[in-house]
Amino acid sequence: MSSQNGIEPNSYIIRTFGCQMNVHDSEHIAGVLEEAGYSRAANVGEAEIIIFNTCCVRESAEDKVWGNLSAIQSDDTSRLVAVCGCMAESHGHKIIERSPVVDIVFGLDSLKRLPELIRRSRNGSICDLGDRDRASLDAVPSIQVRRLRAWVPVSYGCDNRCSYCVVPYVRGKERSRSPEAILSEVESLVGRGAVEVTLLGQNVNSYGRDLCPRASFAELLRSVASVPGIRRVKYETSHPRDLTDDILTVMAEMPQVCEHLHLPVQSGSDRVLEAMNRGHDRLFYIDRVRKAREMVKDLVISTDIIVGFPGETEADFSDTLDLVDAVGFDSAFMFIYSRREGTPAAEMADEVPAEVKSERFMRLSRLQDIKTSQSLGRLLGRSVELMVEGSARRGDYVVGRTRGNQVVLLPAGEAHVDSLVVAEVQKVGRHAARGEVREVLQACCPGRLSKG
Ligand code: 5AD
Ligand code: SF4
Repeated sequence: MSSQNGIEPNSYIIRTFGCQMNVHDSEHIAGVLEEAGYSRAANVGEAEIIIFNTCCVRESAEDKVWGNLSAIQSDDTSRLVAVCGCMAESHGHKIIERSPVVDIVFGLDSLKRLPELIRRSRNGSICDLGDRDRASLDAVPSIQVRRLRAWVPVSYGCDNRCSYCVVPYVRGKERSRSPEAILSEVESLVGRGAVEVTLLGQNVNSYGRDLCPRASFAELLRSVASVPGIRRVKYETSHPRDLTDDILTVMAEMPQVCEHLHLPVQSGSDRVLEAMNRGHDRLFYIDRVRKAREMVKDLVISTDIIVGFPGETEADFSDTLDLVDAVGFDSAFMFIYSRREGTPAAEMADEVPAEVKSERFMRLSRLQDIKTSQSLGRLLGRSVELMVEGSARRGDYVVGRTRGNQVVLLPAGEAHVDSLVVAEVQKVGRHAARGEVREVLQACCPGRLSKG
């Protein structure tokens, strides 16, 4: 029964910003709330509790959240607003000072206590971040949104110190989950119908170095791929320095491991890579790509690139264009450098003027668009296995992903979201291909599932 102002009592909605790890964390937030008797609202207007799971990697991501918060009526006391995720870990109580509509700021470490925080917040706003270096969601319930595919974190936090990046400060030091916990989660997901699992971490390749006894990502990947019933194992994000031949060998030997690497390069200039503290240079990166392509047949490689890092000259930027041209990435996420308070790069001189950054960004995007469509062109006429992930922006299409993570759009009438199909690729656009379904390998019954 809804109340007079249209709000459903004990209902919640989660708005998730940022990376796949946040999307997965939101499954846990839903799990905790549903275990405590809350149910998901159909839309923001009906929700009694609105949770913003935030990102602060770039200023633009934060601005979106501030914009959303300022759109909420401050005199509407019947709603409760909570903020978690990277902005919460980074700004803590300051969020409540800047945006008085916020009732709760919580961290992953305090997620288990969320129902209690909700009760207590009726008497005044609360900030409870717990200990970010300890936070793990191993024993926290979760609601899996899709049946056929699932995300499984292998580690939390990051031990690298890329000079532009705020993640290590907000997500804490790297903590690997035990191989047993990961494998039993994967087995249980597969037991309930999952056929695709994506292993997640800020730097998955350094997995296990903090465990006693030490574990390695290569061994973990082999074990996960060996779980009976699993068809597609993906993982992200890789760090070039930690992408060992052992990992590539597992990719080459285990047909369940998908032929995809997300391998951020960030820049093609050695000077900039050094200032970024990436721990690898241009040649090392190119050599890793060469080795990976040599070992893994049909490998698809995506990357992240930042333009306009402090001190980046036209010559440095040309080195990036040159690398993008030489490597031929199948796709790339490109970002304009965003200054993040508290990171070493924020103290660096020679900030690149905004208009120069935008102009370089446009040039890079134009080059990458050509590379992306060349890569998609290689799919033309081929039969590909696709996981149907969701509706496309154009409502009459759904988004299918190849094993290499390339996007193939399918007519919505031909395939259901959350099914595994084989399609023939018939057309190629700038960012996606289009195809027609030839066979449904695995159809899914709709519904949400609890796990853990
Ligand atoms: N400015 C712009 N992009 C950034 N990234 C991380 N920090 C920043 C920043 N300060 C990008 C990197 C990273 C991706 C997740 O976000 O390319 O790989
Ligand atoms: Fe940030 Fe570098 Fe860690 Fe990635 S590897 S999360 S860019 S510090």
